[in-house]
Amino acid sequence: MSGTGLFVSFEGIDGVGKTTQVERLRAYLTEAGRSVVVTREPGGTPLGTAIRQLLLSNAADSAPVSPRAEAMLYAADRAQHAHDVIRPALEAGSVVLTDRYVDSSIAYQSAGRQLSEDDILMLSMWATENLMPARTYLLDMDPSASHARLTGAPDRLESEPDSFQERTRAGFLARAAAEPQRFRVVDASQSIDDVWNAIRADIDMVLS
Ligand code: TYD
Repeated sequence: MSGTGLFVSFEGIDGVGKTTQVERLRAYLTEAGRSVVVTREPGGTPLGTAIRQLLLSNAADSAPVSPRAEAMLYAADRAQHAHDVIRPALEAGSVVLTDRYVDSSIAYQSAGRQLSEDDILMLSMWATENLMPARTYLLDMDPSASHARLTGAPDRLESEPDSFQERTRAGFLARAAAEPQRFRVVDASQSIDDVWNAIRADIDMVLS
């Protein structure tokens, strides 16, 4: 943590409803008079938007991105994001809500792509100069159910087989178990209101 703000990340596999909950929390905190910055990875900066296109395009003629190149591109996106968006906002006293952060790299690039967790964590720690969230909400749900919610053509990671999606879910849950102080795991198969009530109760406690 740096500055006087509060850094919160939302994590989970695709289709669990992170974006909806980020928006609810933004509205709630803004209403309460807090300055709130909402952002996301990949793509929270202009450089990140370009990296996002490289990472997620599913063009039939594009060569596969190698696991290590993929890991470094997500880390590069995160480095720019931490430097340009997250740190300045925290230093200005804002609450920063990010839709994905370091734990996504652990879940997808380590658990999913089967690269070493230590390496992936070290890469992100170096990229961000050790900037970690104070609170992380993990929206957890069975991938077959969450993927059924997705609309539009699947991107490159959403096109990975069920075994990959299962590994990413397990990767997130393992992270949460390893850092119970930072994480709150919320059952994302509940209604939007029930998920939100769990988050609201917790953030009230964090801010009190
Ligand atoms: P996201 O923006 O959540 O996708 P959408 O626009 O469909 O909601 O994330 C894009 C994809 O990037 C997602 O499948 C997860 C993946 N990802 C990683 O593999 N590693 C990372 O470090 C991050 C931040 C995302």
